[in-house]
Amino acid sequence: MNEEYDVIVLGTGLTECILSGIMSVKGKKVLHMDRNPYYGAESASITPLEDLYTRFSLPGSPPDSMGRGRDWNVDLVPKFLMANGQLVRMLLITQVTRYLDFKVIEGSYVYKKGSIFKVPSTETEALTSSLMGMFEKRRFKKFLEFVSNFDENDPKTLQGVVPTKTTMRDVYKKFDLGQDVVDFTGHALALYRTDDYLDQPCLDTITRIRLYSESLARYGKSPYLYPLYGLGELPQGFARLSAIYGGVYMLNKPIEELVMENGKVVGVKSEGEVARCKQLICDPSYAMDRASKVGQVIRVICIMNHPIKNTSDANSCQLIIPQNQVNRKHDIYVCMISSAHNIPTTGKYVAIVSTMVETSNPEGEIKPALDLLEPIEQKFVSTSDLYSPVDMGTESQIFISRSYDATTHFETTCDDIKDIYKRMTGAEFDFAEMERQKCDIFGDTE
Ligand SMILES: *[C@@H]1O[C@H](CO)[C@@H](O)[C@H](O)[C@H]1NC(C)=O
Repeated sequence: MNEEYDVIVLGTGLTECILSGIMSVKGKKVLHMDRNPYYGAESASITPLEDLYTRFSLPGSPPDSMGRGRDWNVDLVPKFLMANGQLVRMLLITQVTRYLDFKVIEGSYVYKKGSIFKVPSTETEALTSSLMGMFEKRRFKKFLEFVSNFDENDPKTLQGVVPTKTTMRDVYKKFDLGQDVVDFTGHALALYRTDDYLDQPCLDTITRIRLYSESLARYGKSPYLYPLYGLGELPQGFARLSAIYGGVYMLNKPIEELVMENGKVVGVKSEGEVARCKQLICDPSYAMDRASKVGQVIRVICIMNHPIKNTSDANSCQLIIPQNQVNRKHDIYVCMISSAHNIPTTGKYVAIVSTMVETSNPEGEIKPALDLLEPIEQKFVSTSDLYSPVDMGTESQIFISRSYDATTHFETTCDDIKDIYKRMTGAEFDFAEMERQKCDIFGDTE
């Protein structure tokens, strides 16, 4: 171990693996360690099913109806990838896609007044949606046309809106959209977690809605992708990739100390030996004294023997319950997968419900989502603390990731990655520059 690395990475969560991959691609010498004997840290995929029962301290073992335990890979923190989103671009940059197979998620749904509706995001879908009345449909169609023609550099397309000034609230007003339409547009298309965006300039929201529509246009059905066999494939793909760049991955390495000199990290001590480095990336669990708790998230993994009601029997889907619809401050997210993604055994469905905790009774908070999933065969409930770095690394050169939030897509994780990248290198994360090679994420097969 007595070697000197440019970067040492601790923890094999997705954020750490992607940063480790990006640093390798940039020619840095990287050592990547995890104290656990498995990949993924907080975002691990659990297999076989028996291990999930043990992890959640459930009595007994899975019933025979669950099939073979080793046919299950259950992600503790499931998230979908936007087809045109930042994570897909990062995966293409690192070329880790060669180790993965992705499949499109079959549908994207939103909850309104107790019922489930498909999220309309094209003008044609908007006109046939039962989510809105006839007049509202026309107005929403006009709004979508405005969004798709919107070009901030071409005043003709702006219809009097000033992208960096006009608030989104005023844009909704301009198109005379009602509260329910505003709810699903902000939360199921633009994927905001709260309503704070309403009073911000509209440019960011319009860009997000376009990302949704463009991702949807790419593969149809939904804008989301998910790897076959689950997200656990990602860290393993990165470990294989790292070897090509001369990097080293080590699991099961107890971390005894972050070695500091004059307030700056110079190495990591593991099993009595020190590996030296210039910079360190880690998840909060490796540097608790430099992070603080910023909230709590509840996640409930539900095993069912049926798809979610009123989703046209989709084999996989995302469902968002906007905060307003259930009198909350944070949205509730549900993502469901099945054997179509080789996750559980045939005939079983895994839905994971997540949200930010707002009260002392988190299970009560997610009841509206659980009610939509009943009957549920088995539930696995967990609440976890979310941490954010306090030390931003300027002096210490220790760069700490944020815990995974309740969202069921990767856009916030990617923002964290870009932020850490900028703090480490002093330069913006430039996708265009890093896209050395363009290719389709499905490779040649589809
Ligand atoms: C499902 O659809 C039926 C028929 O349209 C409707 O009555 C019911 O409220 C819907 N339930 C949910 C949960 O969406």
